[in-house]
Amino acid sequence: MHVRRKLAAGNWKMNGSIAQLAEIVGIQEAAKAAPGVNVAICPPFTLLAAAVTRAGGHLLIGAQDCHPRPSGAHTGCVSVPMIKEAGARAVIVGHSERRTDQHESDADVRAKAAAALAEGLLTIVCVGESADQRDTGTQLEVVARQLQGSLPDLARDGELVIAYEPIWAIGTGKVATPADVAQMHAAIRGELVQRFGDAGGRIRILYGGSVKGDNAAELFAVPDVDGALVGGASLTADKFVPIIKAAAAA
Ligand code: PGA
Repeated sequence: MHVRRKLAAGNWKMNGSIAQLAEIVGIQEAAKAAPGVNVAICPPFTLLAAAVTRAGGHLLIGAQDCHPRPSGAHTGCVSVPMIKEAGARAVIVGHSERRTDQHESDADVRAKAAAALAEGLLTIVCVGESADQRDTGTQLEVVARQLQGSLPDLARDGELVIAYEPIWAIGTGKVATPADVAQMHAAIRGELVQRFGDAGGRIRILYGGSVKGDNAAELFAVPDVDGALVGGASLTADKFVPIIKAAAAA
């Protein structure tokens, strides 16, 4: 059976500064001490190049979004070749904050993911239901539909990662129960295998939403949880290193 290496990915969102890149040093030391896991930090675009110079060989630096086109008249946007030139090797696409704030559709996310995968970036595609959708019991359908609409066919060859992030768990301190996570991750795995065959069994599925040092081990023990996408607790080495250690121990 294919062993999926755990991935601890940090999403700094619209946070960070050159001064805060000091945190990268401690994070990359922990990444170096955990060669069995992959570790990534996704800072804002303006910090990518500076983060890369501090990351060393064991910490991946990624962006939080990309444009589907390589260049052109798209004011304010950043393309995949630009992200690569900054030295980043990963990208998050379709985060729920972008789906909401920037009105990104599944089709938009799919185009971005296709561009990123074609250029060889590790591409983290986010999906997840809202509180209302969970309350009405439609979460499995919602996520299945997001996957169908957001994943490009290229996923078969590229380095695709899925992040399941229930919106109600993001930044709220509320974490999905292991049973709910297990049910959703199994459903996502089913979708991936149906769509991509054996390759679907190799795609990593991260959980995201209020992951912290003290709940990471329990989440990583859930079948088909191949790591975490972490917001708040990725901003400092203090908070993120215990999550890296939990991934290494899992
Ligand atoms: P959080 O964010 O860890 O702060 O809940 C997760 C995310 O949005 O990726």
